[in-house]
Amino acid sequence: MITRTLAIIKPDAVNAGYTGKILDKIIQEDFRILGLKQIKMSLQRAQGFYAVHTGKPFFEELTQFMSSGPCIVLTLEKENAVDSWREVIGATNPEEADEGTIRKEFAKNVGENAVHGSDSDENGIQEIAFFFSEAELIGNK
Ligand code: CMP
Repeated sequence: MITRTLAIIKPDAVNAGYTGKILDKIIQEDFRILGLKQIKMSLQRAQGFYAVHTGKPFFEELTQFMSSGPCIVLTLEKENAVDSWREVIGATNPEEADEGTIRKEFAKNVGENAVHGSDSDENGIQEIAFFFSEAELIGNK
């Protein structure tokens, strides 16, 4: 089934100049980019986006980091987009990520791990709606 996922290129990767390489990977892997924008989140917005992690030991570090600089947020569409994108990005901790994955290649550590992907179709829909209106999502066929 053709589904959608949210993807984020995180501040570590944007600041390190990896945006182009990661976008190229997205295109090479045949994702359709329906929406793409550069944003800088306030701390409050980052806390809202990661609300599911409220109270976890890494929550403050995570939300400080995600609001520390520019992010590229994308809506991607593909057959099985959530699982497909998670395969391309690799494990959350780059030390555990497979060779050839984005996190293996570009992530610094589990906190500054280059990219985000939705973890289910339902969360994907919610996460996309957090950043994009329907009018901002444009098919290219
Ligand atoms: P992400 O896919 O954006 O979803 C939640 C994020 O929390 C995750 O990537 C990591 O960047 C971050 N995270 C998860 N576990 C830890 C941890 N132990 N320490 C710091 N950050 C973490």
